[in-house]
Amino acid sequence: MRFCSLHLNTYFYAQFKYHNMAYNLLQGKKGIIFGALDEKSIAWRTALKCYEEGAQLVLTNAPVALRMGEINKLSEATNAPVIGADVTNMDDLKKLFEDATAHFGGKIDFILHSIGMSLNVRKGKSYTELDYGFNQKTLDISAMSLHRVLRTAWDMDALNEWGSVVALTYIAAQRVFPHYSEMADAKALLESVARSFGYHYAIKKKVRINTVSQSPTRTTAGSGVKGFDGFMNYAEKMSPMGNASSDDCANYCVSLFSDLTRMVTMQNLFHDGGFSFMGVTQEVLNEMEK
Ligand code: NAI
Repeated sequence: MRFCSLHLNTYFYAQFKYHNMAYNLLQGKKGIIFGALDEKSIAWRTALKCYEEGAQLVLTNAPVALRMGEINKLSEATNAPVIGADVTNMDDLKKLFEDATAHFGGKIDFILHSIGMSLNVRKGKSYTELDYGFNQKTLDISAMSLHRVLRTAWDMDALNEWGSVVALTYIAAQRVFPHYSEMADAKALLESVARSFGYHYAIKKKVRINTVSQSPTRTTAGSGVKGFDGFMNYAEKMSPMGNASSDDCANYCVSLFSDLTRMVTMQNLFHDGGFSFMGVTQEVLNEMEK
């Protein structure tokens, strides 16, 4: 008897530890996660949470990013295959969706688009001296790629009814943050694609498409923005709840992939500790009065 209760206790403890506050919100769902570069990536954190919530995953990134090899750790942790795809290449995307649906043995329930790259920022070109060749690539990688992904899924009818697509964005789409440069335009375009395609996909298959506008977060892409520390500290002081972490962002994405948010579509959803609706906080006022 005593052995039995001890055994049971161990069992429950193991279950509790394994689930780590999970709610099984994505039990039975299948998703593709774009953009996990290393463990700081928002996509990486989201993949872990989706897995904890019971989802089956396929991970994907650009072939050049896969060469870093980091993603293999995530692949092991989430029991998910890695399929390379440059998001600006329609053949790569077609193959990705073919392989993913073959792996799942069925259609896909959710997609995370967590991709951003500014060639002009990378090459140190400011907003007033953009190279338009670079600019086209930036818009293609960071914004039209969402259209490319959706178009591929649409043509192949690869998404299930009530599917959910989330793309990550930043408030520079609405307000000026000088050093965010051409990425501000890319994010504005990305949010517009989410709305426009959201209309068509809602009608065709009740698929919802939203963007999540995240606080500044210390990742490879984030830290590429000039003056990032100042940027991050300012947002921290201007947000009544402080900056939202990548793990919090992952939780929010899980809720958007779950069945609890079925009627939310074509929205840009701020996930920023209140930053977007603040005028000024006492903390910032104190700084100004010094
Ligand atoms: P990250 O650097 O970890 O992720 C960016 C990803 O884009 C990388 O995995 C990279 O390999 C991928 N990528 C670039 N070119 C690609 C291509 N041609 N094909 C396929 N994938 C490609 O950085 P982070 O911060 O996790 O970025 C994820 C998303 O979150 C981006 O859209 C970013 O703009 C957005 N975001 C980030 C914020 C931050 O402060 N870090 C704030 C708000 C939004």
